[in-house]
Amino acid sequence: MPGQIKKPKEGVPNGVMKGLEGVMIAESAICKIDGSVGKLWYRGYPVEELASGSSFEEVSYLLLYGKLPGPEELEGFKRSLAAERRVPRGITDIIAEEVGVAADPMHVLRTAVSALATYDNEAEDQSLEANGRKCIRLISKVSTVTAAIGREMDGKGHVEPDPSLGHVDNFMYMMHGNRMERHKLDLVEKMFMLQAEHSTNASTFSAMVTASTLSDLYSSVTSGIATLKGPLHGEADEAALRMLLEIGKPGNAEAYITKALAKKEKIMGFGHRVYKAYDPRAKIMRKEVEGLRNAASEEVRELASTAMEVERVMKEKIPPEKGIWPNIDFFAGPIYAYAGIPIELFTPIFASSRVPGWCAHVMEYWASGNKLIRPSELYTGETGLHYRRIDER
Ligand code: SDX
Repeated sequence: MPGQIKKPKEGVPNGVMKGLEGVMIAESAICKIDGSVGKLWYRGYPVEELASGSSFEEVSYLLLYGKLPGPEELEGFKRSLAAERRVPRGITDIIAEEVGVAADPMHVLRTAVSALATYDNEAEDQSLEANGRKCIRLISKVSTVTAAIGREMDGKGHVEPDPSLGHVDNFMYMMHGNRMERHKLDLVEKMFMLQAEHSTNASTFSAMVTASTLSDLYSSVTSGIATLKGPLHGEADEAALRMLLEIGKPGNAEAYITKALAKKEKIMGFGHRVYKAYDPRAKIMRKEVEGLRNAASEEVRELASTAMEVERVMKEKIPPEKGIWPNIDFFAGPIYAYAGIPIELFTPIFASSRVPGWCAHVMEYWASGNKLIRPSELYTGETGLHYRRIDER
């Protein structure tokens, strides 16, 4: 019940809800997850139907405005997104400056997105209209920054956006500098749609905490990017692929996983705070990865087969009641490798996909009347101490 103080779960010592597990922080109409059966809905629509028949633009519109767009609405939304793809020269200079130096492109993405605010004369305008325009700018520009980072990593020049292309097609064009096969673009589009939103995950929560102080939308999205970077969250997609590459081939999977589990290591791309059944997004991408076992490239075939074997071994080794199944990050690797995306860009792409979700939750939280998010903690330190001067210690 809203407003009801959740009583600490039985067996939760001293009322501390570690990691805010099971704590509800707001009412929301954006995303419903049933973790017990592995179901996910965006604004009431099953994600399976959106992933097979929609587009990233349509999903973004749905998340932001709460309904599917009509034909004119969608065309208008696509035009407004396309019109906001360019980034100022100062941003591409930051990218050029930092890519060679930064160990992780997520630092460059975070810096560049934060810097975008300095070029937006509406950055501090908290009106509904201005914030609505900033959502569009951020959805478009974060993808442009990610593509520009990819080009810089390749030592190639910045590619200007092509307004005639859809969001994901343009993103891939700006990253690769040429048009790609439809099947590869469709798989990346599916990933963008499936990673667009996921209720109050850590990065969305972080964006909401920032927004709850009435800071601005650029700061909220920058908080989301900084939070997504962690390997327990967004960067698990890169870690999972590194694991598959380290395993090398399906025949090595059993020994590798057995050893890792014996050392109580977490297998990247598995497990989830909410899903105790198979992550429905992973189920959708699993099918695509299965198909990659016949891909033209030997490396992709090997990756796909190794991923399927890791999944089989995990299923064998971990009792189903533990609820540890593949999550969306596990299958990202083979998909992005097939689409020619370098491993270091996986999490920046995840961030680019998640901007509509971050923006939708921030806008909804503000529209609900906002409330500063400020939890408590149980103090267990010393009390009753008195200060003594350094010469008395
Ligand atoms: C994303 O929240 C979201 O919605 C996130 C996300 C989104 O779209 O925004 O879905 C995207 O971040 C997906 C998750 C990506 N992260 C990983 O794949 C990293 C590996 N996964 C784990 O670190 C872990 O599963 C978490 C962090 C995702 C969830 O961990 P919890 O809920 O804090 O649970 P826990 O770490 O306390 O684990 C509970 C038990 C432990 O065993 P016991 O100590 O009880 O014996 O399950 C075990 C853990 O050891 N366990 C795993 C495991 N995940 C949990 N054991 C082996 N491998 C794993 N991956």
